[in-house]
Amino acid sequence: MHRKRGRSKFMATIIDGKQVAQSLREKLADRVKEMKKSGVVPGLAVVLIGDDPASRSYVTAKEKSCDDLGMYSRDIRLPEDTSEDELLKLIDELNGDNAIDGILVQLPLPSHIDEQKVIVAIDPSKDVDGFHPMSVGKMLLEQDTYLPCTPNGILKLLEYSEISTKGKKVVVVGRSNIVGKPIANLMFQKQSFGNATVTVCHTGTKDLKKETLEADILIAAAGRPEMITGDMIKQDAVVIDVGVNRVEDSSKKRGYRLTGDVDFAGASEKASYITPVPGGVGPMTITMLLFNTVKSAASRLP
Ligand code: GUN
Repeated sequence: MHRKRGRSKFMATIIDGKQVAQSLREKLADRVKEMKKSGVVPGLAVVLIGDDPASRSYVTAKEKSCDDLGMYSRDIRLPEDTSEDELLKLIDELNGDNAIDGILVQLPLPSHIDEQKVIVAIDPSKDVDGFHPMSVGKMLLEQDTYLPCTPNGILKLLEYSEISTKGKKVVVVGRSNIVGKPIANLMFQKQSFGNATVTVCHTGTKDLKKETLEADILIAAAGRPEMITGDMIKQDAVVIDVGVNRVEDSSKKRGYRLTGDVDFAGASEKASYITPVPGGVGPMTITMLLFNTVKSAASRLP
């Protein structure tokens, strides 16, 4: 249905994140149109400190997607030496700005700024990243909240691909606050998208391959290029690659290529389903950000 068959060269079916994202965005665009009739334009503020090229490209993609959907986006780019106080003051202003439903501060922040201080300063009702301790706590307690975008995007990809998680063995590689921790938690929740048995692997894991070979669903979110090779994957496992790594490549005009945490060619020979990089999880992350912003704006409807 929302799958692209990729059986000519590889065994695995490729989960086309771009296509799933597009279909969800069409529905969101209709919702935005409806909201506008009531005078509510969902608004997202995107704050970028410094000029890290990868962060810049993510932020540009987020703003463009907002515009494409007919939403309002405010692009705030500040220099690397912006102080913590200046950033906290800006967040305070955005918290009180009625045209802004969602606030996104692109991470990572420069080392002189305390990331947690900044996250806590965002009004939880505008925390469309789902990073505020209030949002994280509500997620753990299975209460209604903004789910973090990449984990939520993974849930949607599995749902669209009709891949059931119930009773499956899910192995998550990576324990970041943004992906590893929340997706592991969501996967074992007693919900239609969860009910799996979850193992989380990290740098302290003794025998990574032993763990990954047990996975019915393997979620790679370690941020290490191609660390998951075909021999680490169980036959017919579902492989979700969250990594977006820039690897030097002089044969490319821009000097690098994008690669995931999974060796795609090797993994495709073992997996039943696999997400590509780019075009897998990435487009879903942005879509869920838009979804959360629309959810926030809905509270302004008359
Ligand atoms: N950096 C990498 N991923 C993300 C994300 O989902 N949100 C924010 N704010 N920063 C990020």
